Amino acid sequence: MKKGFFITFEGNDGAGKTTIAKACMDQLKEQGHEVIYTREPGGSRIAEQIRGILLDNENTDMDARTEAILYAAARRQHLVDIVAPALAQGKIVLCDRFLDSSLAYQGVGRGLGINEVEELNRFAIHDLMPDKTIFLAVSNEIAQQRMGARSEALNRLDNEKADFHEKVRAGYEKLLQRDPQRIVKIDASGSVDHVSATAMKEIEKVIYG
Ligand code: TYD
Repeated sequence: MKKGFFITFEGNDGAGKTTIAKACMDQLKEQGHEVIYTREPGGSRIAEQIRGILLDNENTDMDARTEAILYAAARRQHLVDIVAPALAQGKIVLCDRFLDSSLAYQGVGRGLGINEVEELNRFAIHDLMPDKTIFLAVSNEIAQQRMGARSEALNRLDNEKADFHEKVRAGYEKLLQRDPQRIVKIDASGSVDHVSATAMKEIEKVIYG
């Protein structure tokens, strides 16, 4: 039985999801909540193994449907290992990427179709939908700048061309129109303090009602 709150963070590569999710975690902990931060793809042992295959720069010949299935598989394993147990314990789960990443990247970016990828993911996630999804929106220019400033190497999807990232951005906008109750769009071009304060307001609406 789910008792906690499930919040997901979405957006293009370089939007700042990880930074903002972690800042929100710190603030929620200060308020006395039990919170975990986790991320997809990966976040648990088997899911991390699948992540390795997905993000390997050598796998340039991966078929788009294979890619979608592997993301869904990693999602399933992470859900069972990490998300569902934490929610059952009444924790707040902040998850860096979830279903909407597959809908935007594979559904729109790869052109597989939102409905098709959603159907595949329904099998993986069953009925465990996020209570709220924070879509961090930035322009392609800012996303590129932020990715350029990162210390870690770029992965297979980061290295996709600009038009792929534009499709992903358009995909998120489409998802927002489809599900405006669950997804909230936040302008993520400002400072960490400003963006995390805006995200916190949305999270507080969910947990305090
Ligand atoms: P990661 O290094 O975790 O990127 P970020 O910090 O930007 O989240 O790599 C995850 C990559 O996987 C990212 O480029 C988005 C992509 N992805 C999908 O294409 N589909 C998905 O379902 C998920 C969860 C991620």
